[in-house]
Amino acid sequence: MRRLHTVLADGERINSCLALAVQYADREITTIEGVGDADRMHPLQAAFVRNDGFQCGYCTSGQICSALGMLAEHDAGAPSAVTEHLAATSIELSDAEIRERMSGNLCRCGAYNGIVEAIKEGAR
Ligand code: FES
Repeated sequence: MRRLHTVLADGERINSCLALAVQYADREITTIEGVGDADRMHPLQAAFVRNDGFQCGYCTSGQICSALGMLAEHDAGAPSAVTEHLAATSIELSDAEIRERMSGNLCRCGAYNGIVEAIKEGAR
């Protein structure tokens, strides 16, 4: 399960609360603070704002870091549990693909529809 503790290690999403720092000593770690800030938002952060992808904001940093890692996995052609054609060279980033690939990230407010829309917009 990934939640607010998701960060990126060389662009790969990891659960920081289950990681030992020594395991990642030679890796570049990116937290939400490294993704962007209020004056220079990453396009995915701006998409979360436009699409009401957060409500209380408690999980948002993890959602955005996880989405960035997930989009990189998708761009690399990694299939998910709902990918129909595993040998496909291009996998459509459908709502079902996004929901499956983000399924470990829980939002207690239920902002999932906005999160899916934000990720679709951010992926473009
Ligand atoms: S925005 Fe409230 S828990 Fe995700």
